[in-house]
Amino acid sequence: MDISHFIKYLHYISIFIVFSCLAIEFVLLKPQIDRKMLKIVYKIDGYYGLFSILVVAAGLTLWLWIGKPAEFYHENGIIYIKLGLFIVVGLLSIIPTVFFFRNRKGDDSDLVEIPGRVRSIIKLELLILLIIPMLAVLMANGVAVF
Ligand code: HEM
Repeated sequence: MDISHFIKYLHYISIFIVFSCLAIEFVLLKPQIDRKMLKIVYKIDGYYGLFSILVVAAGLTLWLWIGKPAEFYHENGIIYIKLGLFIVVGLLSIIPTVFFFRNRKGDDSDLVEIPGRVRSIIKLELLILLIIPMLAVLMANGVAVF
């Protein structure tokens, strides 16, 4: 096992954690929850953010410094779609994060209404995350789709 295998492992495990955090958030977020639960969701959202950074850091390391030469991915171009979709997920996630942040303070027993758009956005993020591994496989194997 060399360093590139280890970085790939980091990439994978971070992706699993990112997906799990969003899935847990989705399940916990009912139309109305108490603030205690909202604080838990906010914490999970923090882990989501942290591990997203690790996904990007490991991905960029694999792309630019370790493993196959960077041109391999550049020629294929799929990496840019993959990157773009992950950026979309990151941008979408700002909306739920801001909502959790704004509503986290107060009594634990207070009831908080969760706007439908917060759940829909998390669902959309999960769907996009399901597409990305397909692009990753094509990208890693140099399959040209254009
Ligand atoms: C900034 C974002 C990302 C960058 C720069 C990036 C880059 C890379 C690179 C360079 C590889 C190595 C491919 C190879 O072995 O030749 C890789 C592998 C992989 N990535 Fe990412 N990645 C990113 C985000 C993601 C995300 C969000 C997912 C999944 C949701 C993902 C899923 C995968 C998978 C499944 C592989 C293994 C592909 C294979 O070996 O067949 N990546 N990524």
